[in-house]
Amino acid sequence: MALLTKLIVAVIGLLLAFYFYSGNDAFDPSTLKEKRVIVTGASSGIGEQMAYHLAKMGSHILITARTEDRLKKVVEKCVELGAASAHYIPGSMDNMTFAKQVVHEAEGLFGGLDMLILNHIGFTYFNYFDGNVDHVRDLLEINVLSYATMTVAALPMLKKSGGNVVVVSSFVGKVGAPFTVPYSTTKFALDGFFSSLRMEFKQQNTNVSITLCVISYIDTDSAVNTVAGVIQQPAAPKEECAFEIIKGGALRQREVYYQYQATKIPLLLRDWAPEFLEYIMLKNYDVTKLKPQQ
Ligand SMILES: NC(=O)c1ccc[n+]([C@@H]2O[C@H](COP(=O)([O-])OP(=O)(O)OC[C@H]3O[C@@H](n4cnc5c(N)ncnc54)[C@H](OP(=O)(O)O)[C@@H]3O)[C@@H](O)[C@H]2O)c1
Ligand SMILES: *[C@@H]1O[C@H](CO)[C@@H](O)[C@H](O)[C@H]1NC(C)=O
Ligand SMILES: *[C@@H]1O[C@H](CO)[C@@H](O)[C@H](O)[C@H]1NC(C)=O
Repeated sequence: MALLTKLIVAVIGLLLAFYFYSGNDAFDPSTLKEKRVIVTGASSGIGEQMAYHLAKMGSHILITARTEDRLKKVVEKCVELGAASAHYIPGSMDNMTFAKQVVHEAEGLFGGLDMLILNHIGFTYFNYFDGNVDHVRDLLEINVLSYATMTVAALPMLKKSGGNVVVVSSFVGKVGAPFTVPYSTTKFALDGFFSSLRMEFKQQNTNVSITLCVISYIDTDSAVNTVAGVIQQPAAPKEECAFEIIKGGALRQREVYYQYQATKIPLLLRDWAPEFLEYIMLKNYDVTKLKPQQ
């Protein structure tokens, strides 16, 4: 065991060194100037921060979520920060008619679309699976089927612009983890849908990039309030996370890993030493801090 640990540490060290010296940062934020972008789930958290970054880059922005007064405030701030234009449309993503409507709204406002950032998630609990399969089905509607619906609706515009689909997933969309059974199910489904679609796009010379973002624990209010104390690892900053997602999308990367050391590195263990990965992950939870289930 001691030898294995040393070996893993050595491999991780080498990989980190490679990552930090490989300098793959050819991102020029001005490439997003005048670009037409939809951001879902932008009334708070990472989505809100993405809207602010895009505003500073001079994009045309359409944001959506359910809470209208919050969207209004985010749009006002986007205008102040320098957005080419900023608009919002309130509604719920459990409604596929609404999901399509958001895309059609962008078409009406901008006459096209360059980037579709799918980021919203429905509410779920953080606790042992309660046996409610209906909740899993409802969450699949919001977290997955609305993503697929919006992508299908936006595809004609994205083909025309050679645009980008950016899908915000999670570390638990690549590895199972306790207390997130319904959520993790939906994030794994995104990988299946979008990674398969990406291959078909290659086969068919469809010039639309798909970027799947594998995100670790981030310091958004909702995440911190939900997992506070239970997950021992520190939360990474939402501003930087939002920037890395936009950057990966603009660079047409297949996947974004943020934070790199909390996602890509443990994922190296997934297929080769799954039990070791489980052991490390389980050590990271303090079950005594779990909040009682609502
Ligand atoms: N924070 C983390 O630790 C973390 C880790 C890994 C991955 N991620 C991923 O990052 C993304 C953003 O997470 P976040 O932490 O920023 O979450 P958040 O702050 O809770 O934001 C979620 C957004 O989705 C909207 N939303 C909720 N229910 C909705 C519904 N039924 N229809 C339409 N919109 C709805 C919310 O606004 P309304 O309530 O106004 O609708 C809000 O704008 C998610 O895809 C999440 O899975 C986050
Ligand atoms: C679904 O969305 C459409 C378009 O926004 C709206 O007209 C309809 O009332 C919504 N349905 C429900 C049940 O909210
Ligand atoms: C695909 O679209 C991008 C962005 O519009 C463009 O830079 C690139 O040249 C296009 N590639 C092909 C093969 O058309």
